[in-house]
Amino acid sequence: MLPGYQETKDHLLICPSILSADFTALGASVDQIAQDADILHIDVMDGHFVPNISFGMPIVKALAGYSDLPLDVHLMIENPIIWIDRFAEAGADSIVLHAEACPHLQRALQQIRDAGCTPGVALNPGTSLSTIEEVLPFLDMVLLMTVNPGYGGQSYIPGMQDKIRRLRRLLDAQNHAVHLQIDGGVYPANIKENREAGANMIVVGSAVFNQPDPAEAIRQLRKCSQ
Ligand code: DX5
Ligand code: ZN
Repeated sequence: MLPGYQETKDHLLICPSILSADFTALGASVDQIAQDADILHIDVMDGHFVPNISFGMPIVKALAGYSDLPLDVHLMIENPIIWIDRFAEAGADSIVLHAEACPHLQRALQQIRDAGCTPGVALNPGTSLSTIEEVLPFLDMVLLMTVNPGYGGQSYIPGMQDKIRRLRRLLDAQNHAVHLQIDGGVYPANIKENREAGANMIVVGSAVFNQPDPAEAIRQLRKCSQ
């Protein structure tokens, strides 16, 4: 389980995505950021839901046995419901699946919770917030994609702050204590406007692992968010 929104909302949760880490030295890459990161973000891609293939349960299992950081598993896969228990067994702390890939969202969220993980739903940039309105009582996290999923290192889609703002307003109005996570194209230059729009969990790949000093890059992101 991840820490809840109420307890952590004043602290920006920075979630480095290992998609941009050095796969030949994954443990060392995680060691570099262990003191400064809040959560490890793990991007699972199946080559169907998104046009790319990354990695699966064995990497989650290896990291669960290696790092104390909570593991946030972002499933960019078709038919995610059939894989929930396997990722939970591998050691996921949160499991986030895409609304676009899952017709039985409520059932899937309940299954994630029953497996002992924090349940979340991700939305592509082009997917309306109305898709998740009916399941808000059943989730603890919403991930708004700020790029089209599939690759690290893409540019932030201009105007996504408005969607973040509208979601945070909706959550506040209905009293849902839900993490609002954003993912894609976040750098020191744009982190502040996203934090101010209402994001409290920020996924960062290139802005951390493609930098000469990943730990310093996280500290810089935190500083720029204020
Ligand atoms: C994109 C992934 C992201 C990605 C972010 O499909 O979900 O988590 O790794 O990478 P950057 O920060 O480089 O955009
Ligand atoms: Zn992701």
